[in-house]
Amino acid sequence: MVFGRNNKEKKISDHSWDVDDTSPYTDGPLLEVQDLKMYFHTRDGVVKAVNGVSYTLEAGKTLGIVGESGSGKSVTAMTLMGLINMPPGKIEGGDALYRGKSLITAKEEALRSIRGNRIAMIFQDPMTSLNPVYKIGHQLAEPLRIHKGMKKKEAWARAVELLRMVGIPNPEVRVKEYPHQFSGGMRQRVMIAMALACDPDILIADEPTTALDVTIQAQIIQLMEELQEKSNSAIVMITHDLGVVADMADDVLVMYAGRPVEFGSVDDVFYKPSHPYTWGLMGSLPHTASDLAEKTELLPIEGMPPSLIDLPGGCSFHPRCPYAKEICVNEVPVPVQIESTSSKPHTANCHFAGNPGFTKEKMEKVLQTDAFRKEDGDV
Ligand SMILES: Nc1ncnc2c1ncn2[C@@H]1O[C@H](COP(=O)(O)OP(=O)(O)OP(=O)(O)O)[C@@H](O)[C@H]1O
Ligand code: SF4
Ligand SMILES: [Mg+2]
Repeated sequence: MVFGRNNKEKKISDHSWDVDDTSPYTDGPLLEVQDLKMYFHTRDGVVKAVNGVSYTLEAGKTLGIVGESGSGKSVTAMTLMGLINMPPGKIEGGDALYRGKSLITAKEEALRSIRGNRIAMIFQDPMTSLNPVYKIGHQLAEPLRIHKGMKKKEAWARAVELLRMVGIPNPEVRVKEYPHQFSGGMRQRVMIAMALACDPDILIADEPTTALDVTIQAQIIQLMEELQEKSNSAIVMITHDLGVVADMADDVLVMYAGRPVEFGSVDDVFYKPSHPYTWGLMGSLPHTASDLAEKTELLPIEGMPPSLIDLPGGCSFHPRCPYAKEICVNEVPVPVQIESTSSKPHTANCHFAGNPGFTKEKMEKVLQTDAFRKEDGDV
C-alpha cells in the first residue's frame, strides 16, 4: 500500500534520479503505471477520480488517452507529476515507475528535479500554469537555467528561439511581455514551448491543441514528433480527437469513470474495439488507414457518466450499456486479453469481451432483434 504525498503515513523512499542521465532506458518500460488510485476526500463524499489505472509506455512511443469529460485523464497525469493537492487528494493504492523508480514515493526534491525537465506536461488550462507576474521570457528561461545550467543571456536567447518554434510572431518583442498580453491560443503555444524546452524524456500533453486553429495544431503535432525523433521521448497524448490519436499514437488507453476500459495498439483498438464503451465513442469502424486518420471527435454516448462519488456497482458502464446483463450489475469486470496483432497486449474490461460473437457489428444486429432484449438476465 502506498500513501499520498503529505499524508502522515506516507512512506518516503530515498531514491532519486540522475537527471543528467539521458541514456536509453532498457530495463523495462520508461513509464509504468500500476493500478493507480487517486481519490478526493470532499465534504460530499469520496470522489474516485482515478480508480485502478495501469499502462506502460516505452521510449520513443506515444500513448493516446481518450474518454469522456470527467473520466480521470487529467487527474491521472497530474498524479504522476505530483501535482495534486493532498488533501483533498489521496493516493489510495498503486504506483507509477519512471525509469524503474517510484514517482509516487519519491521525495518532493527528487520530483522537482524531474518535473519540467525529464517529464514535462502541457496543461489543459494554460492560465493555471503561467505565472501572471513574470514575463514570458523569464518563465521560459528559468527552467533552462535551473535544469540545464544556462547563463541568463543564453537562456533568454533560447526562449526567443522556442517562441519562434511554436509560431509566436515577433518573438524578440513578445518574450518581454506578460501572460495577460497573450491570447488564449498563444498562451497554449507558450506552454508547449515550456514543455519542449528541456528535451524531456516524457511529454504529457493534455489536450494541447484544443484552443488552436488547425494549421497551428498541425505545426504543434509536428514539433512534438520532432522532439520524439530527436530525443527518443515518449509522449502521453490526452485528447478528444481520434484523428490525432490515429495519426500520432502507437497505443491507446480508453478510460471511463476513472477506470481503464480498453487498452492496446492503435490498430487493435481502432479496427477491433472490444468494449461497448469504445464502440460508442468511435461510431463506425474504420476499414482502411485513411478511414482511421479521418476519425475525428469522440461521439456522444446516450446517458450521463456516473457520479464518481456513487459509482454503479459491477461494471460502471452498465446503466448506459445496451448489452448489460445481471453479471454486469454485480461483478466488476477484470481485463480480458483479446487477440493482439502487435507486441502490446490488447485488453478490455468487459465480461463478454473476446467472445467471438461479441463484436460491434454482430451486437448491433443482435440489438435490433427482440430476442436479445428477452434473454434471461437482461437488465
Ligand atoms: N480537487 C478536486 N476535488 C474533487 N474532485 C476533483 C478534483 N479535481 C478533479 N476532480 C474530479 O475528478 C474527476 C476526473 O477529473 P479529470 O479532470 O481527470 O477529468 P478529465 O478526464 O481530464 O476530463 P476532461 O476531458 O473534461 O478534461 C472529475 O469528476 C473531477 O470533477
Ligand atoms: S461488462 Fe456488461 S455492462 Fe460492462 S461493458 Fe460489458 S456488457 Fe456492458
Ligand atoms: Mg482533463
